[in-house]
Amino acid sequence: MKRLVITIDGPAGAGKTTVSRKLSDRLGYKYIDTGALYRAVALEAQFAGISPDDDTGLEHLCSKLGLIFVRDKRGLRLLSNNSDITDQIRTPEISMMASAVSARPVVRKYLLDLQRNMCREKGVVFEGRDMGTVVFPDADKKFYLKASPKTRAIRRYKELKSKTSQTVEKVEKEIRLRDENDEKREAAPMKPADDALIIDSTDLSIDDVVEMMLDYILG
Ligand code: DC
Repeated sequence: MKRLVITIDGPAGAGKTTVSRKLSDRLGYKYIDTGALYRAVALEAQFAGISPDDDTGLEHLCSKLGLIFVRDKRGLRLLSNNSDITDQIRTPEISMMASAVSARPVVRKYLLDLQRNMCREKGVVFEGRDMGTVVFPDADKKFYLKASPKTRAIRRYKELKSKTSQTVEKVEKEIRLRDENDEKREAAPMKPADDALIIDSTDLSIDDVVEMMLDYILG
């Protein structure tokens, strides 16, 4: 079968990452988590003391950044100028900062080229917020995965439980705030592509979602 480009967009905690990993395994495809790239810019900006609304500072930072994904036995790892930042970018603080820097067109422009260059070989599942609308408008199959804010907060809380002392209420508040930032920004706002299949995962298991996607992809 022809190798495809598949996009999965949607808000935090909807299950995109787990679903994308499983789907790419089932299809023998690569998987790219584009949120990690925005998180990397946020982390590097924090290290450099650059504020998320300092466009000149962010532009300069991006021009010196070397971000690459590598795969090892732990899975997909992200290197920034050769240092492995995969674990450092998964904190609530970096989540909020990633959402803030992702609203800046200078950051989106830099990451647009990088993401498109990752698609030279077909057979890839791309996960993000604007994959089907802006980065790969010609993708072969597009999905938008959503779930209620409460469900998403509980899922995220379970993931973070061992790492932070956040309550489920705090996680929900941050998720709602991030949704609002990501949906209302002018540059490439989070929304379903017109030709995306929308799946509400509130009452579905990961495996149910993956099977629905496979049915849709394989027809
Ligand atoms: O998927 P994530 O939670 O790791 O993404 C972190 C932030 O990055 C998210 O709040 C918005 C931004 N993002 C984006 O604007 N576009 C993408 N394609 C992926 C993420």
